Amino acid sequence: MEPLELCFSSGSSSDPSLIHFLDAHTELAASVLKEYPSVFDTKGGGESLWVEAKGKVVSHVASVVAKFHHPLYSFPVGLVGSVVTQPEFRGMGLATSLMRQALEKLKAKGCLVAALWSNNTDFYTPVGFHPAGREMEFVFDEPVGTAQMAVEECNANGDTVAQLSRLYHQHHLGLERSLDRFAQLLQVPNVRCFIVRESGLISAYAVLNKGSDFQDVIHEWAGHPAHLAAIVRHLKNSDYVGKRLRMIGPAHKPVAEIAALSSGFSVGSMALVKVLDRSSIKSIYLSYLRNQGVEANWGEALIVDGLKLRTDTDAEFLNAVFGQGLDGETHRLPFFVWGLDSV
Ligand SMILES: CC(C)(COP(=O)(O)OP(=O)(O)OC[C@H]1O[C@@H](n2cnc3c(N)ncnc32)[C@H](O)[C@@H]1OP(=O)(O)O)[C@@H](O)C(=O)NCCC(=O)NCCS
Repeated sequence: MEPLELCFSSGSSSDPSLIHFLDAHTELAASVLKEYPSVFDTKGGGESLWVEAKGKVVSHVASVVAKFHHPLYSFPVGLVGSVVTQPEFRGMGLATSLMRQALEKLKAKGCLVAALWSNNTDFYTPVGFHPAGREMEFVFDEPVGTAQMAVEECNANGDTVAQLSRLYHQHHLGLERSLDRFAQLLQVPNVRCFIVRESGLISAYAVLNKGSDFQDVIHEWAGHPAHLAAIVRHLKNSDYVGKRLRMIGPAHKPVAEIAALSSGFSVGSMALVKVLDRSSIKSIYLSYLRNQGVEANWGEALIVDGLKLRTDTDAEFLNAVFGQGLDGETHRLPFFVWGLDSV
């Protein structure tokens, strides 16, 4: 048999042949272009690495650089997604090789970490991704009473998006997001956005569903806590009578009004994260702790508030800095990406 010639390439993720390949080999609610515009749209800025055999794409990895923001620190994050190899070409090391190259590129672009969302730890653990960060999930199974304020489902026009954006940026943590990007993300198939107004202005919003992800999950929200609770009540009295509704958010910031309505909650990890620049993360973390008045020393081991944390492996390092699920309730570096930004 003739040896197969494989050609490795890189370029913009908006290349139609990549979108065609991904649409043929993924089971999404719509085209990747519509589900992940922040990567695949011409204005998205996504970079793809792929392998071709006989001129046809057979394996692919996409990434996009975003900026994580907190009032005390910010850093570039590489978001990785759409990792796919055509079935006949699996097990040859193609996706691993593309992923390693993508991580090198993200590091060269200044990203301190890379993050992705997947259950396939068998593939991602060997390339250095580990569960990290702390995400809280509330479930609403029982009736929660009536909303007692008007809740509307909104269409994202220019003025609405500006108001939603103002509320989004009131959060202490999340990725920086332009108005255009926000508007684009609200157009992703299946996304539903609910709002409450006070004196004519939007005072709270909650975003439900996103493409084939986050089905029946409020994955982004902001604004007045009691008005957010009204949105949950509205949903439980309309589309979610007798049906489970879920809501996720950063574990650093549980909302008492939401917790009071929920039938239960759990804390899990936020994403699979890969460390790209240990020393920069270390200095951000130490300066955050100093700012919080927490005593910390990072010599051979990391000691935070008298607690010794191991940092030898990447998994230990991530757990020590960002926490992971229930592990790390105190003093960890807040890091959270809201659902609309996931790729
Ligand atoms: C996951 C995927 C991209 C791997 O592509 P690939 O080119 O075959 O990857 P590699 O050849 O580099 O495989 C790396 C290793 O992961 C293992 N692996 C990959 N997918 C796996 C799975 N679903 N379960 C168990 N092991 C898996 C491979 O066996 C291989 O292990 P080995 O090196 O010990 O033999 C490919 O299986 C795929 O397209 N799956 C469907 C889409 C998907 O699940 N994408 C990931 C979520 S975004």
